[in-house]
Parts: sequence; structure tokens; C-alpha cells
Amino acid sequence: MITREQCIDVLQGIKEPVSGRNLTDIQWIRDMMIKPDQVSLTAIVAPDHASAERREQLIEEIKRRMNTLGVADVHVRIRIASEQELSAIGIYAERPDANEGTSSERTPQGHGAGLENLSPLLAESSNVTFIAVASGKGGVGKSTVTVNLAVALARLGKKVGLIDADIYGFSVPDMMGIEDRPVIENERVIPIERFGVKVMSMGFFVEDNSPVVWRGPMLGKMLRNFFQEVEWGELDVVLLDLPPGTGDVALDIHQMIPQSKEIIVTTPHSTAAFVAARAGTMAISTKHEIVGVVENMAYLECGSCGEKEYVFGRGGGGRLAEALSTRLLAQIPLGAPDNHPSEPDFSPSVYKADSTIGGLYLELAQSLLDHEGLI
Ligand SMILES: Nc1ncnc2c1ncn2[C@@H]1O[C@H](COP(=O)(O)OP(=O)(O)O)[C@@H](O)[C@H]1O
Ligand SMILES: [Mg+2]
Repeated sequence: MITREQCIDVLQGIKEPVSGRNLTDIQWIRDMMIKPDQVSLTAIVAPDHASAERREQLIEEIKRRMNTLGVADVHVRIRIASEQELSAIGIYAERPDANEGTSSERTPQGHGAGLENLSPLLAESSNVTFIAVASGKGGVGKSTVTVNLAVALARLGKKVGLIDADIYGFSVPDMMGIEDRPVIENERVIPIERFGVKVMSMGFFVEDNSPVVWRGPMLGKMLRNFFQEVEWGELDVVLLDLPPGTGDVALDIHQMIPQSKEIIVTTPHSTAAFVAARAGTMAISTKHEIVGVVENMAYLECGSCGEKEYVFGRGGGGRLAEALSTRLLAQIPLGAPDNHPSEPDFSPSVYKADSTIGGLYLELAQSLLDHEGLI
């Protein structure tokens, strides 16, 4: 018969995602019962990582490892960590508002740790379409695409929300030329409306563009606040500007909004497309439906002759779409918006509706409405 030590040994390396420590080291594997042909145990998870999907993954991982010891019958119970267990391993201790955490967030028996209860937007009955915009790396124009797609959907008459989920690298307020800060009414934050899009961003709450130095758990909390504390009103679609890559915040979003669809932004360069494929793979592994790929900075159109010059190479977007079995939704050329700071609704990054690129965004928005059946 196998021993407890063997079991602990084989489970080494399964990490608690917030602290990065081994579950076995922090005694978050408990109640191990070993019988000749069966092992049962309890695994503890942090509330922020207790979505049904994450639990399923953990159970599978434990079973897979136990199977290598020849134990076929493995029974895993999952329990959500208590406040004491969390602070014992030093996570969440820095939460500024740890004491005022809402009950829905802390209720272990809620679906996916109660995330669906955070906001009517996330309720199963809500008809809101979520579209997360992801990229493999920064600088490919993910935020530009998100902002302009949001504005284009609003121009087509949709009620649009935009969450700047790039918490460290927030840029949406600046790109849209937003200078106001949200007001609070009846203890709810009212999002800023710009070009018909309701916007929420970490940038609204940071003084003087100072860097955001919060750690993982607080970031998760911030995202939650964007749902819980914000009066979104009625929306048809919410776009999320994800941080680049496949880090924690991106993963949090995947888990917080499992029903979210996803658009991947890349440049035509083969390296960018290769890196973007990882973001796509993450979307697939978290079962987000990939709506398609937007190739940004696809070409430069010669002003006088109309000829296209493929300055960043060619075909990256198409190949990526093929690799992810999805559509190439749009190819947006290089070009700065023809906006001037003296205009009343100036914004550095929003293309006008009647400009060439503005028109391409309207086509992209329309094709999403046609294909995705957004209301
Ligand atoms: N099609 C484009 N043509 C010209 N400049 C662009 C285009 N798309 C994005 N940019 C510029 O490239 C930079 C990076 O874009 P951004 O949207 O911030 O990327 P990301 O969010 O992926 O980091 C910004 O300065 C933006 O104005
Ligand atoms: Mg960005």
C-alpha cells in the first residue's frame, strides 16, 4: 500500500496561485485518507481562485498525479480557505479593506465563489455580451482596437461599457481624451461616458499618473470593484481591455467572466502573431470562445498612390486566425487619428466615423453584430 509520504511527494509542485507556494508546504492538502485502492483528501483554495473551472482543474491535477502512484480511485474535496488560513500564509494581509469584504465575495457556497452575485451584469440571466480583447504582448494596439471598437459599437446604437482591465498599464482614459473623474451617487460609482461608451479604468483612481504597485490579490479586488461598485445601468456589450500576455489579471478575468468571448489583437509580424497565439491558447484552455483576430498596423497606405506597403511584414493575422481556427476579423492599417486638441471632443486615439480607419472599425463592429447576434 502506498504511504502518506508518497502521496505528499507526488503532489509537490501544485502551487497556490496567489502566494506561489506549494499546497503541500502550506498544509492546504488535508484530511488524507489512504486505503488499499482509494485515496481521499481535501484541497484548500483561496476564494479568488475558487471558480468552478479552477476547482475542476485542481481536482484533475491531483487525480492525475495520484494516478501515477497507481491509485485509480481518488476522491478530492475542495474547501475555500478561511480568513485565518489566508493570513497564516501571508496573503490578503495587505488588503486595505479586508474587514469590509462583502459577504457575496466571501461566501464559500456561492457559485464560483459568488462571483456571479457581484453585479447584475454577471448574472446568468443578463443578456450582456462580454468581449475581452487580448494580445500576446504590449504595443500591438490592443487598447486602440478596444477603444475604437467600443466607440464604433456605440455609433451603431449599442449600449456599450468598456472596462480597462489593464490595471498596471491603464491607458483608456487618456486615449479617449477623458479628463473628468467619476462621481459617486448613492454609494455607487458612475462610469464616465465618452462617445456614448461608459468607461471604467484604474486610471480614474490614480493621482498624477503615479505607478500602480499593488499585488495580485488587490488587483483581483480592483477588478471585482469594477463590477460590484459601479452603476453600469443597462448595457448590450462590455469590452474589456485585458493586460497583455497571459498573467494573473488575464487569468482572473477568464475565471470571473467565463461567458466572455475574446478577440485577439496582433500585428502582421510573425513574432507578434506567434506570441499572440499563447493568449489564444489561454482563451481556449479557459473555454472562452475566440470571436476572431484583428490584425493591427497591417499596412501603410501611400497617401498619393494608394499602394499598400507592408512595413511590419505580412500574413501574421491570417496565420494566427488559422492556427486558432477562427476568423481574421479586420486588418487595420497604420495611421494616426485626424484629431486636433482644439476640437471640443478631442481624443488622441479615437478615429472619426467618416475617416478610412473609423470606417473599418464600423465594419468590424457591424460584422460582430451580424455574427455574434449582439442585441
Ligand atoms: N493602426 C495604428 N496606426 C498607428 N499607430 C497605432 C495604431 N494602433 C496603435 N497605434 C499606436 O501604437 C501605440 C501602442 O498602441 P496601444 O493601443 O497602446 O497598444 P497596447 O494596448 O497593445 O499596448 C500607441 O501609441 C498607439 O497610438
Ligand atoms: Mg494597452
